[in-house]
Amino acid sequence: MWGCGALLGARTRSRLWREVLVAWGRRWSAAAPYSASAEPSRVRALVYGHHGDPAKVVELKDLELAAVGGSDVHVRMLAAPINPSDINMIQGNYGLLPKLPAVGGNEGVGQVVAVGSSVTGVKPGDWVIPANAGLGTWRTEAVFSEEALIGVPSDIPLQSAATLSVNPCTAYRMLMDFEQLQPGDSVIQNASNSGVGQAVIQIAAALGLRTVNVVRDRPDIQKLTDRLKSLGAEHVLTEEELRKHEMKNFFKDMPQPRLALNCVGGKSSTELLRHLAPGGTMVTYGGMAKQPVIASVSQLIFKDLKLRGFWLSQWKKDHSPAQFKELILTLCSLIGRGQLTAPACSEVPLQDYQRALEASMQPFVSSKQILTMC
Ligand SMILES: NC(=O)c1ccc[n+]([C@@H]2O[C@H](COP(=O)([O-])OP(=O)(O)OC[C@H]3O[C@@H](n4cnc5c(N)ncnc54)[C@H](OP(=O)(O)O)[C@@H]3O)[C@@H](O)[C@H]2O)c1
Repeated sequence: MWGCGALLGARTRSRLWREVLVAWGRRWSAAAPYSASAEPSRVRALVYGHHGDPAKVVELKDLELAAVGGSDVHVRMLAAPINPSDINMIQGNYGLLPKLPAVGGNEGVGQVVAVGSSVTGVKPGDWVIPANAGLGTWRTEAVFSEEALIGVPSDIPLQSAATLSVNPCTAYRMLMDFEQLQPGDSVIQNASNSGVGQAVIQIAAALGLRTVNVVRDRPDIQKLTDRLKSLGAEHVLTEEELRKHEMKNFFKDMPQPRLALNCVGGKSSTELLRHLAPGGTMVTYGGMAKQPVIASVSQLIFKDLKLRGFWLSQWKKDHSPAQFKELILTLCSLIGRGQLTAPACSEVPLQDYQRALEASMQPFVSSKQILTMC
């Protein structure tokens, strides 16, 4: 269909976009059909019609809002981050790809405007976040099915709610599900200034775990070190420091980690493995360096290390929606107690999405780009 786009008039193309996107929204969110009698409202959304460079393929479009059916919820989006997985989805390099055209964004928070007659779990005014990836959060409003949403307390900070459903959940599960860690045990991770990394630092500190946090060197490394320490990081090291011979003595004063969390791959992951305790586990959840994990044969044989992977989408398939909701509420209590804050963020109005997309793909930015919809 897209190959014919150039032959169609602007009005026809816009109608096709609208129809495909309403159909797409229904499939992902099980939204009800829109009523022919109601005057449709217009909403703005960041849409891509084919895979490629996000700066080139993402466009700000006017879409039609579907009518609210019995089990639907009309949501006004408040804020939605740009995560690496959003970028990978647009590029077409992710484990889960929506049919195109699609609205970008998998995470975010919105406020309920209206609910259908059979909706019981949320009411107007409540805050909601996506239950699953693929919802398309980069838009001003949408009609979703109730089951596509999870209610969250509206007294937590907006940035925390907007960044809750992916990274903190990943951090929590990786800390809980691979090794039986006790207070005083240590964990090592790379890309520690990532959204996941900052959540790992804080959740680990709340659990009484000690963290060794590896980051890439940069001119303002002390500023980054101070920030991560203020979140609860015990040690912050650069990749180069981790490779130094003196690291041999590092774990004389603290237990060797039984858990390593790998967001990077390549040499960085080889170094994490070198510092794991015998029998320990390295969990790979990201591949920011786009390099394979390389494990030393002797480390594997003589230390019997375990290499595992984690994908939150798979965890959700293997667990019930009630278990995911319980996870979200556990994290909300940590937020409420001041033990889990949002990652360092830059808020960018939706219309300035090009700037936000570009910043989200730059190295050393250390700030999550959050699109604001008002
Ligand atoms: N498996 C799962 O279920 C799951 C869930 C959530 C996230 N993830 C993945 O976790 C990763 C981080 O996500 P996020 O939202 O936390 O990311 P983020 O906040 O955007 O941070 C990206 C991080 O990657 C680092 N980085 C970028 N390029 C790098 C490279 N070439 N070598 C080393 N480090 C590099 C950045 O460090 P600098 O500051 O040095 O640039 C930064 O620490 C992504 O790959 C994401 O897809 C996976």
